[in-house]
Amino acid sequence: MRTPIIAGNWKMYKTRDEALQFIYAVSEQLPSSHLVESVICAPSFVLRCLVKRQGENLRIGAQNMHFEDSGAFTGEISAPMLKSIGVEYVVIGHSERRAMFNETDEAINKKLLTAFRHKITPILCIGESLAEREQDLTKAVLLRQLNADLVNITPQNAKKVVIAYEPIWAIGTGKTATVAQAEEACAFIRQTIASLYNQEVADAIRIQYGGSVKVSNIHELMGQENIDGALIGGASLVADDFLTLVKAAL
Ligand code: PGA
Repeated sequence: MRTPIIAGNWKMYKTRDEALQFIYAVSEQLPSSHLVESVICAPSFVLRCLVKRQGENLRIGAQNMHFEDSGAFTGEISAPMLKSIGVEYVVIGHSERRAMFNETDEAINKKLLTAFRHKITPILCIGESLAEREQDLTKAVLLRQLNADLVNITPQNAKKVVIAYEPIWAIGTGKTATVAQAEEACAFIRQTIASLYNQEVADAIRIQYGGSVKVSNIHELMGQENIDGALIGGASLVADDFLTLVKAAL
């Protein structure tokens, strides 16, 4: 049985005070992390602050990190830095980073390897653009990304990757993929993992759907066989909504 995982991706939102208000509102209300993993991926300046107050059932993640452990990389943050403040997850390869910060699959693969070296759980984002979907290239894109992003990731580590299937056209647009589209893509991802590794890895790996997930559609998404959770942007900014989203995964 796979433990569901609900992760909020705050992107570049919330000041320190706003982040603290959120954490005080949710941390005591969350269900046991044995039943559902709840993660908030916050901007790096506030990570330490949140880790200190995360409570028993919330985990804190970063939204990005460099693949090198240290070096002359102005403005970047490394895995050992994140580890040193108690961050346990990191979003890797979000489509906004791929599109706006020129992140390549090669860099994403290095980041995954680095995350595992430091025992940080990666949430790997993959997904197609609208043009790719319209040209019926969704599966080809997912296959290309999985092949490139998972190079040299051992079966043991592959089991621990959280894959977020995020069709780019559904992110922040209010346009959710239909449940059938989401399930079809997630099932394809699981099948691909089985062929890249084996059935045991495919059965263990958790696959999230992301893209305009909200209180009104989470139940239906979570009801699908191959959807083990959600990566949520906009709706994760509101404490009550985040709590409802997490509880829907129970
Ligand atoms: P959204 O963002 O929920 O606001 O569509 C999802 C994401 O970018 O991870």
